[in-house]
Amino acid sequence: MKNSKTESQPKNFPPISYSEYLGTEKLLSLQNSRSREFGAEAHEEMLFIIVHQTYELWFRQILHELDSILGLFKTDLVREEDMGTAVGRLSRIVEIQRLLVDQVSVLETMTPLDFLDFRNMLYPASGFQSVQWRLIENKLGLKASSRLKYNSQPYTASVKPTEATVMTKSETEVSLFDAVDAWLARTPFLATPEFDFKKHYGEAVRIMLDDDRDSVLRFAKSDEDREKNLKQIEETKSVFESLFNEDRYKELQDKGTFRLQHKSIQAALFISLYRDQPAFNLPFQLLTRLQDIDELMTTWRYRHAMMAHRMLGTKIGTGGSSGHSYLKAATESHRIFGDFFNLATFLIPRSSLPKLPTSISKKLGFQYFS
Ligand code: HEM
Repeated sequence: MKNSKTESQPKNFPPISYSEYLGTEKLLSLQNSRSREFGAEAHEEMLFIIVHQTYELWFRQILHELDSILGLFKTDLVREEDMGTAVGRLSRIVEIQRLLVDQVSVLETMTPLDFLDFRNMLYPASGFQSVQWRLIENKLGLKASSRLKYNSQPYTASVKPTEATVMTKSETEVSLFDAVDAWLARTPFLATPEFDFKKHYGEAVRIMLDDDRDSVLRFAKSDEDREKNLKQIEETKSVFESLFNEDRYKELQDKGTFRLQHKSIQAALFISLYRDQPAFNLPFQLLTRLQDIDELMTTWRYRHAMMAHRMLGTKIGTGGSSGHSYLKAATESHRIFGDFFNLATFLIPRSSLPKLPTSISKKLGFQYFS
């Protein structure tokens, strides 16, 4: 098949050299060591600068991918043929994140004493002011209300007004979380005349928990054990009810356990349970990639917090925060796709899963013949 993009390309290009193409001369002139500038060059500062610059370049690539994925998902209808592209680009982000986590070890070859040779020349600069990092967080969907306060100030207070404007604007745009939430809420097949997921799944859960109850009544070793296990089953039942009861679900949303719309969490569960159906394979991969991204953001935050602890002990950061303790607290508060982790609460064994009617499994299986 012909590729229209290739066809429309111009045919004559002027020659170009490696360094012209990559702008290496300019790139290699950007490692401006403060210690050299102020007369006592610290050997380790080159590494410190290059590691930060490399991060910023990778952030740029992540944003490039994120913007394209948002472009595909921000519409009222996500085209099936774009799903593979979206999953491929999310996978690329995940691989870059793995590099970003590994790269911490490179900077950790600099010892805290070496860092002190130039650290005092950096005030009040800090990674906290990285515009691209904030854009990544906001475009992924970190809620402003979940952010930890920094010296009792919003995170935008420590940057230039022009940078603050860019950061704040990204808070108001549709994030990947919002777009995926809206896409999930539109998932078909949740309720059709032949199959009502809510009803059939609710029934399967009831049977599973009744079986558990029977086993406890028959095999409990003591009265105390029986009481304890029956209570646990009642608690599990009540968690499952929230899946089918909007008011109960709202309570979990208010507690921060879930952020997705009620319909979206049901759809995410439906996709996860029936992921072996060909039509759900890519959607399932997409949800898994979002989990990977969240897990790797958290891993990076934790590795970075450990590095800051190693370098600073209990000193405050150059940006003025409580250093290590601020960063460690952010690992938990700044999670974005936690819903897809908490979804595991609602999974039931494959053996208890309601069978899909043939009319639906045919549609999900791309069967074009009878
Ligand atoms: C010697 C190495 C490093 C130390 C000691 C360090 C320390 C810190 C500290 C203490 C903070 C909190 C804000 C502050 O008070 O300054 C911070 C924030 C941050 N740093 Fe680093 N950092 C180091 C390397 C890096 C590198 C290589 C990057 C890569 C871009 C980076 C990116 C960030 C980001 C994005 C934040 C904001 C995190 C957030 O608010 O969740 N840091 N850093």
